[in-house]
Amino acid sequence: MPDASSPFGTLMEITSRPAEVFLEGRGSWLIDARGKRYLDFVQGWAVNCLGHSPPPLVEALAQQAKKLMNCSPAYYNAPMIELARALARTSGLDQSFFTNSGGEANEGAIKLARKWGSLHKGGAYEIITMEHGFHGRTLATMSASGKPAWEKLFEPKVPGFPKVPLNDLAAVEAAITEKTVAVMVEPIQGEAGVYEASDAFLRGLSRLTKVRGILLVLDEIQTGMGRTGRLFGFEHAGIRPDVMTLGKGLGGGVPLAALVARRDVCCFAHGDQGGTFNGNPLMSAVGCAVIAELTKPGFLARVAETGAYLASELASLGGRHGFGGVRGRGLLLALDLKREIGPRVVDAAREKGLLINAPRPDSLRFMPALNVSRAEVDEMIARLDQVCGEMR
Ligand SMILES: Cc1ncc(COP(=O)(O)O)c(C=O)c1O
Repeated sequence: MPDASSPFGTLMEITSRPAEVFLEGRGSWLIDARGKRYLDFVQGWAVNCLGHSPPPLVEALAQQAKKLMNCSPAYYNAPMIELARALARTSGLDQSFFTNSGGEANEGAIKLARKWGSLHKGGAYEIITMEHGFHGRTLATMSASGKPAWEKLFEPKVPGFPKVPLNDLAAVEAAITEKTVAVMVEPIQGEAGVYEASDAFLRGLSRLTKVRGILLVLDEIQTGMGRTGRLFGFEHAGIRPDVMTLGKGLGGGVPLAALVARRDVCCFAHGDQGGTFNGNPLMSAVGCAVIAELTKPGFLARVAETGAYLASELASLGGRHGFGGVRGRGLLLALDLKREIGPRVVDAAREKGLLINAPRPDSLRFMPALNVSRAEVDEMIARLDQVCGEMR
């Protein structure tokens, strides 16, 4: 733990961070205070969908900053309206509430489902969630998450989140009672190590929730905004949720997240939900610019192509080093290392100027900018190959 005399000593210690201090970023590259360049396949934890400081977002920020940074959540502003319209147009859902973080968007989804249950389902409030799921770090979203390490943390938890195994439709069906108001799931469990909810499972959930008159809530905070090669992860399964949450890529690097839902589910009364910065024009303007870029012709097709290329290159690299397979979709991929060397690989890669993440000790996760080039993928593979070759 850094002592008070260390340069980091006045920051609360909430995680183990390497000593590098980053000063600048451009596209897929980060530069630290010593001028060392790093190829970034973490990208702010799958946030910087267009890479570091992309010109369209810099421009949107600068233009909006000159016009209006903040009025008040008590008033409408133009970017907030434009962003909500863009999300309605692209998702097929109807209304949005904007937040500053994914956890806050999920907290809102939980509140919305409970409010809907109190109005339309005789007070039903339970939300069935998945083992190993991750929904954020507020008390309710930690309770909704299925992270084993959190089981005993910050007790007592918020009640009302029975857990079932991912991809087990029969278990979901068996868990539904008269208290159930919703099922909440990530299309890909990113933080758990990139485990996909199968398309068949999502389709089954969509059918089941309709038949039982409960809500399907998709946490698309990691999978949304083009990450899987479609704008939203649910598109692969050909379904549409009743409620969806977005974050990360939605702001492309600025704090912006959203709770999006079908009109008839949007039942908050005045005062039920709010927040000082929600729908802030500065952040909303960036969200609009992100959607404009991601929906340009050919952009998402290129994400899918680059994702397929990265997956095949990772599979070959895995073959060369005796690793297991590749998981995930689009540009949210994980490589099974078959051994618990993930943290050591991450550290050694950083030394070689490559930033990657190990969501579990036996896996590496890759979440580059969606506009990462093939040459950058090749460079990443070359550096990783070298690191893995030197691992004992
Ligand atoms: C699926 C999912 N939900 C929620 C969150 C929480 O988002 P935030 O860290 O912005 O609160 C994350 C963050 O990693 C996530 O991956």
